[in-house]
This record gives sequence, C-alpha cells and structure tokens, in this order.
Amino acid sequence: MDILIKNIKGLVGIRSKSTCFVAGKEMMHLETLNDAYLIVDKGLIYDFGVMSNLKYSDNSFDEIINAKGSLLFPSFVDSHTHLVYAGSREIEYGDKIRGLSYEEIAKRGGGILNSAKLLHETSERVLFDLAMVRIKDIISMGTGAVEIKSGYGLTLEDELKMLRVIRRLRNESPLIIKSTFLGAHAVPNDFKGKQNKYVDLVVNEMLPKVAEENLADFVDVFCDKGFFTIEQTDRILDAAAKFGLRSKIHANELDFSGGIQVGVKHNALSVDHLEYTGDAEIMSLLKSKTMPTILPGAAFFLGLKNAPARKMIDAGLPLALASDFNPGSSPSGNMQLIASMGCIIYKMLPEEVINATTINSAYAMGIEAEVGTITCGKRANLFVSRPMPSYNYLPYSYGDNKVDKVILNGEIIKY
Ligand code: NIG
Ligand code: FE
Repeated sequence: MDILIKNIKGLVGIRSKSTCFVAGKEMMHLETLNDAYLIVDKGLIYDFGVMSNLKYSDNSFDEIINAKGSLLFPSFVDSHTHLVYAGSREIEYGDKIRGLSYEEIAKRGGGILNSAKLLHETSERVLFDLAMVRIKDIISMGTGAVEIKSGYGLTLEDELKMLRVIRRLRNESPLIIKSTFLGAHAVPNDFKGKQNKYVDLVVNEMLPKVAEENLADFVDVFCDKGFFTIEQTDRILDAAAKFGLRSKIHANELDFSGGIQVGVKHNALSVDHLEYTGDAEIMSLLKSKTMPTILPGAAFFLGLKNAPARKMIDAGLPLALASDFNPGSSPSGNMQLIASMGCIIYKMLPEEVINATTINSAYAMGIEAEVGTITCGKRANLFVSRPMPSYNYLPYSYGDNKVDKVILNGEIIKY
C-alpha cells in the first residue's frame, strides 16, 4: 500500500459518506479519533482507526509518516477565489486607508477595472506563472481544492484568456480546481451608461462561447448596489441555466441587494459575501439548497460590517467560509487565517469553522462526495499539522503556517 500515517494525535473531521454538508447545531460536531492511523492507497483514503487496531506492519507501505504530536485534517476547500490576476493593487491601499469606500475607488476607475486593464496587457503565459505561484502558496497552507473565477477580462477575448489559464492550472497543479465564469463582475468603461448592452454581450456572446469551449463549471454575477441589478442577474442566470451552468453569486456585500433571493430562486449552489443578511434572507435560504458563504477576508480588508454568522447558524442554516483571494478586497488565500477570523470576528466555534472550511465549502463547489471529510473512499487530500495540543489550536494561533505535511491525491507534496 502507498502511505501509512501513524501515531496521529487526533484524526479530525470523520464523517459518513452520506454527509453533504452540516447545518445549524450539527456544525458544532467534529468527530475526532485520538491516537489514530490512516492508510492512503491509490490516491484515496483506504482505512483509518485507532493505533491498537492497526493490522498491517510498516513494511506493507511505500512511505510512513510518524505524526506523533500532530493532527491530521482534511484539506481546506476554498470555494471562492479570484486568484488569476495580473497584478496587485496596493496602489489603492492609501486611498482605502484614507477612507475611500470600495465603491468610490471603483467609480474612479480603480478596483476591478484597474485589474481588467492590467490583465488585458498580460499574456496568458505570464498570467499562468503568476497564478501558479499563488497556487503553490495556498497548497503549502493546507488548501486542497479551490474555485477560481474569471471576471478581470470583461471582454470576450480576455474572459476566455482567464478561463484558459484556469483550465491549464487545473491540468498542471495537484489541486482540485473548479472554474467560474464571472463576465458580469463590473461594467467596462466602454459600456458606461449602457449597462444592459454589456449584459447582452455576456448573454449573447460570452456565455455561448464559454459553454462551447467547456471552460466553466459555474456562472457568477456581482449582484449588488453599483454593480448588476436583480433583473440583470436573473437574465444572466436564466441564460446560463440553458447551458447547464449552476450559479454561485456575489450577493449582499454592499446592500440588501436582493442577490440572495435571486440566487435561491435559481437554485444557486452558493451565495457569497452576505454582509447584508436579514430575516427575509435567512428565511429564503432556509428553504433552499444554496450554501450561504461568508468571505471574512473581504469584510476585514474593506472594513465592512460583518455578516451575521451566529444568527444564521442559530437559525439552522449551514455556513461555508472562503478566502475570496483577489487583489482588490482580499489579498490572501490563507484559509487558516480565514478560520481564525471565523472564530474571532464571527464568533463561530473551532468546530464550526473547521466544518465551514472543509465539508461545507466542498458542497459550495460541488465536490462534497470527493473531499472535505475523513471518509474511506474519498480522495486523500489531507494535511498533517505541526505538533499542537488540540484542533482548537488551528484557528486559535493565527498568523503563522501550522501545516507541516501536505498530501494531495495520495501523494506527499514537496514544494
Ligand atoms: O469578491 N465583490 C466583488 N468582487 C471581488 C473583488 C474583486 C476586486 O476588487 O478585484 C470580491 O470581493
Ligand atoms: Fe469574490
């Protein structure tokens, strides 16, 4: 057999195969086995149990990891990123610190349009190389699957360029990668005052081409104040559904935009951001199969009010957390930090943030049957922590990397 991980101080996140996501009180549950072993074979989790039940001798394995003092976790699943981009935007940082809002920066031609201009001038090869550095970074911090959006193209050619970069990342990196077409991320300057014309372009030209080249798994719209309206979102999601693309929506970050409800109406896989979530939004989500996803990095970086995570979980909802890794509102893909923010800022418990960054975020990108828990038959995407007293330490000790060894597809990754 391939790998034996033995003497694991705590094997964290054991669940049955049938768990798709966890909601409400169940989010507090995190099954852990102490003094455990886990066997990886042919890329999958083959078996696990307590050390006293280990039936195989060391020489049955190609590799042995002695995890003494360490915990073994399912890899983080980061279900919302924009990690293909041409350059950072620290140039806006000063304006932001001086008090300009995200929308004001966007209105001045900064923000997403600034990234689109730079992306236009950058070759596919350079974009790939830049993104690959970020991919290796997030792998080293424990991420085992990531969703990546387009949306810095905003022309047919440049949106396709981004999506091709994502496809190449999928082919050449060990991560599970899902790709989301976000043509409706911002209205480009050429379409100022003619927003519906831009939506025509997204619906009539971009979507068919993206579908024809099979470049996206999902579709997204930035449905919020100053960006795209509910009606425009409705139209794009209807058109995408005809190509079999399910949606993941940017919703209610800047206002009660109706984005959550429009997402639910279209059976979105997830609605993301959610700073403006009230009782009506919670009611709508409770009746749906849509995963509410909070992006603590963006709210932290932009100084937004915080989504009411506690109220949502207490109402019985599931919650996922993701990084939103992007140059404008969350320049970090560190899911350990996101988990810490979940506890410190959103008052989620360590068990809840671990579920929110693994099984629930896996559901939010449609891969819950493959990863997100310690379950026999699931893909062996795992990380061994540095020695730590308990799983609480993972979100408690923020700011440094607590990942010691990464296993993806049953192979130990060495970067
Ligand atoms: O998720 N809110 C919209 N889009 C991104 C930000 C993109 C950017 O500013 O470059 C987000 O925060
Ligand atoms: Fe985003």
